[in-house]
Amino acid sequence: MKGLILSGGKGTRMRPITHTAAKQLLPVANKPILFYGIEALKSAGIKEIAIIISPETGNDVRIAVGDGSRWGIRIEYILQDEPLGLAHAVKTARPFLGEDPFVMYLGDNLIKDGVGPLVTRFEEGHADAFILLKEVANPSSFGVAQLNEDGSRILCLEEKPANPKSNLALVGVYLFNKNIHTAIDQIKPSKRGELEITDAIQQLISTGHHVDSHILQSWWLDTGKKDDMLEANRVVLDEMTDVSMLGTTDSGSRISGRVHIGKGSILKNCTVRGPAMIGEDCILEDSYVGPFTSIGDGARVTHAEIEHCILREHCQIIDFHGRIEDSLIGVNVELKRSNSKPIAFRLMIGDDSKVEVV
Ligand code: G1P
Repeated sequence: MKGLILSGGKGTRMRPITHTAAKQLLPVANKPILFYGIEALKSAGIKEIAIIISPETGNDVRIAVGDGSRWGIRIEYILQDEPLGLAHAVKTARPFLGEDPFVMYLGDNLIKDGVGPLVTRFEEGHADAFILLKEVANPSSFGVAQLNEDGSRILCLEEKPANPKSNLALVGVYLFNKNIHTAIDQIKPSKRGELEITDAIQQLISTGHHVDSHILQSWWLDTGKKDDMLEANRVVLDEMTDVSMLGTTDSGSRISGRVHIGKGSILKNCTVRGPAMIGEDCILEDSYVGPFTSIGDGARVTHAEIEHCILREHCQIIDFHGRIEDSLIGVNVELKRSNSKPIAFRLMIGDDSKVEVV
């Protein structure tokens, strides 16, 4: 069994953060989202993985991930020149995949229970493809499956239908055997000009192949937008068990709940309520850090209240004297209160930024 992780795309819904970073490298609990997928495949016993990259962000992905040796697996990279769809990505990866069965994992997806049990079920069964489904409130944003009455058989699949036949979305984790390649060769690009993996799976069904499915009961997160990122961060921090206090805190600081503090970080006169994660070499003074907050390495926060936020590496929130919630703050961002007159907002904000003030 091989692994194919998709890490292309332009991340337009996450701008401006994705002007300078691949969306799959954005951190959830201070770890790139993409690493969760790699670790899920590794835990399922998969040792050969290819990552599909785009010309825009491919190099950053290569640098961040490396050759897989840190996980004891082999990772190679396949360039998809243009974003022509998930099935097109599989086509591009054909020389790597050969005739082997594989797990395809969308690099911006997170699922709670990993993929180990799914790999076992696929290997022990006779299905040509295995898909995961999840009930969602907004099915028209996804691929949608319609099942028969007892849920044992897929009747049809549609990509982002205007009038969805069910609320069962296709989760971005799929298992295939070699028959998917023939199906991909038989489909045409969709209205959005992409070769859709959903259409290829429908083609398998239409040509009498066996497609198995499982409805996920545990969480699944598709981290395409800011609020999805914050939700992913909340869910992962909520389940975090591996916490340690590697930094230093003074006697005026109060830490409660599950809080991880990385080495070299210094907290003075701060209150931190977990679950929260503070990276390495951060300086926090006279501040409050509330639940569901991750702070990246080298960040500095003084006189500020932060809750339900992702602060990226080396950002600085200085003498802010206010509360920041539900926010995603990029690398090296500076946010400070100034005493110069006239009293005004003085901003240098990049393209596509979003700022809400009170
Ligand atoms: C893709 C698939 C869609 C699936 C979704 C899961 O959508 O085309 O069928 O439900 O991933 O994340 P996209 O990310 O291209 O919007």
